[in-house]
Amino acid sequence: MLEFIHKTVMVAEAVNALQPKAGGRYADGTVGGAGHARRILAASSPTGWLYGCDRDGAAVEAAQQRLAAEFAGRFEIRRANFSAMADWIPAASCDGVILDLGTSSPQLDWAGRGFSFQNDGPLDMRMDDRQTLTAADLVNGASEADLAAILWDYGGERESRRMAKAIVHDRVQRKFETTRQLAELIERLSPRRGRKTHPATKVFQALRMAVNDEISSLKLGLEAALKILKPGGRLAVITFHSLEDRVVKEFGREKTRDYTFRGEVDVPELRAPRAPEMRWFSRKAIAPGAMEVTENPRSRSAQLRVLEKI
Ligand SMILES: C[S@@+](CC[C@H](N)C(=O)[O-])C[C@H]1O[C@@H](n2cnc3c(N)ncnc32)[C@H](O)[C@@H]1O
Repeated sequence: MLEFIHKTVMVAEAVNALQPKAGGRYADGTVGGAGHARRILAASSPTGWLYGCDRDGAAVEAAQQRLAAEFAGRFEIRRANFSAMADWIPAASCDGVILDLGTSSPQLDWAGRGFSFQNDGPLDMRMDDRQTLTAADLVNGASEADLAAILWDYGGERESRRMAKAIVHDRVQRKFETTRQLAELIERLSPRRGRKTHPATKVFQALRMAVNDEISSLKLGLEAALKILKPGGRLAVITFHSLEDRVVKEFGREKTRDYTFRGEVDVPELRAPRAPEMRWFSRKAIAPGAMEVTENPRSRSAQLRVLEKI
């Protein structure tokens, strides 16, 4: 069994936002290797409580083992999607909720998980291996139009149509089974020519987001977090790309607004006052410090947003 090693991102900033205290209750919807969870439990010693979940079975196992060694009797961890947190965590019970989105390092580094174009593995990309849909199913089965939409919507891939066409053309000869096979096709279509990032980066991100239905989960997860927070409780969300960040920003904008409006467009004449449900803890997104980015390059695109329930 490979060791579950994940370098936690923006720990100090997240703990500073949540201000864990003894007796407090916290929820970590992306418990991963328990980096944030451990710091929250330590900072809320001796009586703070943590609900944790992750949809990845390997993460849940690693987190359970790690936390049991230091914080036995002070946490409950389940294998679950954070979109369903409010189904098992009592409403208005938490002083803080954290979501640290995206992938864990083991998901990217363990070739067998099929997330990486650098390590050859099966074209899989499922965070939860109980799910049936894999990246291979999408690449070999989705229509050209659907593939192009996935690459454009979730990857912002400018050559989405050309790439979708080439995938559909090639899969007739031979089904896509491995990450290398797909990465090689993308490299052929869009050679590197001095670019810093690998040409398949966006395609792999897009497929991962589609396989795991990440944007829908995030929208539901943010609503679930609001439900389980107490008034005065805080929600900290760490995102890794603009699409996720936009969803969090939109959610914050909607929940902090002191009016509603009828219809699709916000026209001042059609506004009706209402009490906002949340306030921004910090208006702007918080970025990792320069030292963290140097020590952990995976943190470079991280952004933390924090909202407080009213
Ligand atoms: C960046 S890692 C979290 C690392 C963790 N904070 C730590 O310090 O070790 C992201 C984790 O979120 C999980 N995840 C992503 N989307 C999820 C969802 N909708 N529900 C539950 N877990 C999810 C992934 O499986 C992964 O383990």
